[in-house]
Amino acid sequence: MTLSACTLASVCTSQLYELRFGVRRRPFLKMMLHIWCLVALTTLASAINPGVKVKLTQKGLEYGRELGIASIQQKLRTIKLPDMSGSQRIAPIGKVTYSFTNMHIVNVGLPQSSVSLEPGAGVKLSVTNAFMSLNGNWRVKYFIIKDSGSFDLSVKGLSITTTIAVNSDETGRPTVSGSSCSAAVGSVSIKFHGGASWLYNLFKDFIDKALRSALEKQICPLVADSISDVNPHLKTLNVLAKVDEYAEIEYSMVSSPVISTSSVELSLKGEFYNIGKHQEPPFTPAVFSLPSSNDTMLYIGLSSYIANSAGFVYTTAGALSLYITDDMIPASSPIRLTTRTFGALIPQISKRFPGLMMKLLVKAVKSPVIAFESNDATIQTTATVTAFAIQVNGTLSLLFVLNMNGSVSAQVSVRGTRLAGSVVLNKMDLTLGTSYVGDFQVTLLDTIFQMVLKRVVIPKINAQLSKGFPLPTIGKIKLVNTQLQIVKDYMLIGTDVQFSG
Ligand SMILES: *[C@@H]1O[C@H](CO)[C@@H](O)[C@H](O)[C@H]1NC(C)=O
Ligand SMILES: *[C@@H]1O[C@H](CO)[C@@H](O)[C@H](O)[C@H]1NC(C)=O
Ligand SMILES: *[C@@H]1O[C@H](CO)[C@@H](O)[C@H](O)[C@H]1NC(C)=O
Repeated sequence: MTLSACTLASVCTSQLYELRFGVRRRPFLKMMLHIWCLVALTTLASAINPGVKVKLTQKGLEYGRELGIASIQQKLRTIKLPDMSGSQRIAPIGKVTYSFTNMHIVNVGLPQSSVSLEPGAGVKLSVTNAFMSLNGNWRVKYFIIKDSGSFDLSVKGLSITTTIAVNSDETGRPTVSGSSCSAAVGSVSIKFHGGASWLYNLFKDFIDKALRSALEKQICPLVADSISDVNPHLKTLNVLAKVDEYAEIEYSMVSSPVISTSSVELSLKGEFYNIGKHQEPPFTPAVFSLPSSNDTMLYIGLSSYIANSAGFVYTTAGALSLYITDDMIPASSPIRLTTRTFGALIPQISKRFPGLMMKLLVKAVKSPVIAFESNDATIQTTATVTAFAIQVNGTLSLLFVLNMNGSVSAQVSVRGTRLAGSVVLNKMDLTLGTSYVGDFQVTLLDTIFQMVLKRVVIPKINAQLSKGFPLPTIGKIKLVNTQLQIVKDYMLIGTDVQFSG
């Protein structure tokens, strides 16, 4: 991508192409090249790799088809047929006029339908062998005679074909629209009640033709309505999903949906931002592609980029810091946050600050970095630990600052429409930053800090992570049969969905 953008940029900006394509003496061709360059460069410049990808499979489309057919069936029941009338001259009677009134739909059936993907164009929905039954009244006038009765009409072999285009709107949400539609009535059969049979032959052809065209004219607009009815639901995509007082996640689409032969794929931004202050992190999303799996309706791929942007936001907001006091350490622990405990390992502490309580500040100094490998999510953190003695009057006296590298393993799961997690400590390395209590062997403190991390820091982090982060969702979607898998560079959620209302 970068390479082709550069090549394109150099071809387009230099006068090189004039030589290369020999267009100097062909102004029209030159102008077309200018336009092409402009379009190509603009497209490339605005291409952003997504942090999240969502794939709708054939199974998902089938579910959509069921919902769509139910909606179209309801719409078709609302077809209103205008009264119709005609006349014909018949020897020896003279002019016969007839009219059909009060026609209405009694039943609509859409027993067969299918959905398929048309790469680059949209989703094609076909309805075949649909039927309708109607009834109405007929009336004739000739000579001085008036006659009337009713009729039942049945329409069979009705077929509808429509293509649904999927695009993105100015807010980065998907939209659908009917891009082509055709409807054809197979056969119409009429059963008249009352009157003389010679009359039926007279107006049978008339009503067949008139009804056919009245129906065919009304079907496509109603199908288009059904398609448009989906948009209010799509508008509920949480393009800016609030997480907590610090962060929100942007889930707007960064490019148009891609329709292939097997799926519809959406590319979402998938990035954490500080609420109200959208600052870009010093890294960009890597390219990733979803597997070709099609067992569930929907696949959601969440790249390490979205997780790392979270780390960046919380670190920048100063949210990744924690003061630890003795009361936060479980009562069952023999290790206490006192100068007595630490003094046993670093004699200067007990000498200069005897009998005091202590306080620690653990603070991330760099954004944590998450890496996804097959079945493994590991987060590397770089933090400092600052230790203080708390003087009797409350003043804090600095004891030492340690640099801490930690590695934790994350477990991730889907709860409702949120992604929740928890971490366990893998490994921790301490080095001395600054000491105010003389030189000491940092490894002596390993046991204490292992305990502090395991029993205070990590439980706090897990309490936050268990609240979860909102996934991209639409309306009252329910995720069912959900599975989460960690693969190289991203997390993959495979799920079926249910819409309730
Ligand atoms: C799923 O993919 C397999 C292999 O690519 C294919 O044979 C099968 O028809 C697909 N299933 C559906 C429901 O599209
Ligand atoms: C608090 O106590 C310490 C140690 O006794 C002393 O050095 C410091 O000046 C005191 N601070 C205040 C504000 O009284
Ligand atoms: C922490 O990690 C960084 C980079 O991986 C390394 O340069 C540094 O020496 C490590 N520090 C400790 C205390 O292990």
